[in-house]
Amino acid sequence: MSKPESSNVRDLLFGNLWDYSPAPESADHVTIKPRYGHFINNKFVDGENYFQTINPANEQVLSELATADAKAVDAAVQAARKAYDKYWRPMSGAERAKYIYRIARMIQEKARELAIVETMDGGKPIKESRDVDVPLAAAHFFYYAGWADKLDYAFPGSKPTSLGVVGQIIPWNFPLLMAAWKIAPALAAGNTVVLKPAESTPLTCMLLAEIIQEADLPPGVVNFVNGFGQTGAAIVNHPDIDKIAFTGSTDVGKIIQRSIAGSRKKLTLELGGKGANIIFDDAPIDQAVEGIVNGIYFNQGHVCCAGSRLLVQENIAETVIAKLKHRIATLRVGDPLDKNTDVGAINSREQLNRIREMVAVGEAEGATKHESRCVLPEKGFFFAPTFFTGVTPSHRIAQEEIFGPVLSVLTFRTPEEAIAKANNTPYGLGCGVWSDKGSKLFKVAGALQAGIVWGNTYNKFDPTSPFGGYKESGFGREGGVHGLLPYLEVR
Ligand code: NAI
Ligand code: MG
Repeated sequence: MSKPESSNVRDLLFGNLWDYSPAPESADHVTIKPRYGHFINNKFVDGENYFQTINPANEQVLSELATADAKAVDAAVQAARKAYDKYWRPMSGAERAKYIYRIARMIQEKARELAIVETMDGGKPIKESRDVDVPLAAAHFFYYAGWADKLDYAFPGSKPTSLGVVGQIIPWNFPLLMAAWKIAPALAAGNTVVLKPAESTPLTCMLLAEIIQEADLPPGVVNFVNGFGQTGAAIVNHPDIDKIAFTGSTDVGKIIQRSIAGSRKKLTLELGGKGANIIFDDAPIDQAVEGIVNGIYFNQGHVCCAGSRLLVQENIAETVIAKLKHRIATLRVGDPLDKNTDVGAINSREQLNRIREMVAVGEAEGATKHESRCVLPEKGFFFAPTFFTGVTPSHRIAQEEIFGPVLSVLTFRTPEEAIAKANNTPYGLGCGVWSDKGSKLFKVAGALQAGIVWGNTYNKFDPTSPFGGYKESGFGREGGVHGLLPYLEVR
């Protein structure tokens, strides 16, 4: 640690007395190919047009990827159909499990490389990609490998069968982890896959494609195509797809729902959120403040179940807000590859603009803005941890997803008011409740219209635990035995 040149009153007040020396993770041993084609039948095949993916922390181009048009998507779907009929459907569950375990172990072996590439391509701090994204991705493959030969016991009294070819479309906030959430249960249930990563974060899926190649999966069982919304739409509208699994914005979720209406395609949607962290006056306040910070500043707030609203009981609001101000001043914002960084880069310029727009809306609506006075890097897309007080439930910043490190603070007096306010958005994904009383935790949790409710913690994930939404946050569950259901016909 080194002492900064000057320490002033602000440093004394806000605790910024010491800065850490830089501790960047080295990217020397990481191989990112200059170009990736479509991954079909376990081979990378050339495309016609290519687009670039950049590092949002410094705007440097990392690689280019083939844009899949309807023809390329069709080739991927045909490969998946052939693999389904020829290899994957006839194979016993125990044999399928061996392949899925192999993927899990190879993710562990390549964990360091995957974490570094995830951080470079998407901007999230290395300590998160290293400690959260990559280990959880491996854990999902391990967990679902265990189900592959036990499907008959998962739903007693019924005979589950696979669906066929599934099309999966994922967002940019947890690229490898979302691929694992989607691919692992699909394969365990006996389906084959065509997956499209998000256009700003395709690279860890390309490394996963290499793992699938090395793991010697039968050709065509897992295929990757890259591109923008049009590529996603080509998957959704392909006549030989049996099921669509989508994670992303509510707007695109609605488009997909409309496009497949009346078809045989099954659908699961995991969409936006406007989660509330509810802090009662009997909560352990310092822990709760850590939970608030973890709930909204983790992964720059690029989390669909983020605790993007704080509902704090009125009599402790002043204390909690003072502690929160102090705490965000100590968050380290900057180089995502630095092991000390708490808040990394915003995923793209478009997302940064969206965040700025929503913050301007909050100010125009009359809420009071508080931001960490950290120094932001000159290059790349960064946004200082921010929160708003004086927010009312009708403000847009209390209703709409911001998907950035921006928290809206509201107050309440009674548990009933907290529940009513927490439920007062079109969404219902994640919520947190903080109280010393177990009975209060359970009562409030039961009344919240949210798929996930954490008690005295926030943003904890586990492959055995189902995850999914209520209302406009989508439907279907991922994780746990529930996560198998969308990939099976259970008769
Ligand atoms: P998006 O929903 O457009 O993108 C998600 C994925 O869907 C990407 O792979 C994209 O290429 C694909 N896609 C886009 N249009 C499509 C279409 N018509 N048919 C099929 N696939 C399509 O999300 P975007 O624009 O990146 O972010 C916009 C907002 O969405 C964010 O500000 C945030 O509020 C929210 N969001 C929510 C996420 C979540 O985890 N629930 C993840 C990403 C964004
Ligand atoms: Mg990128």
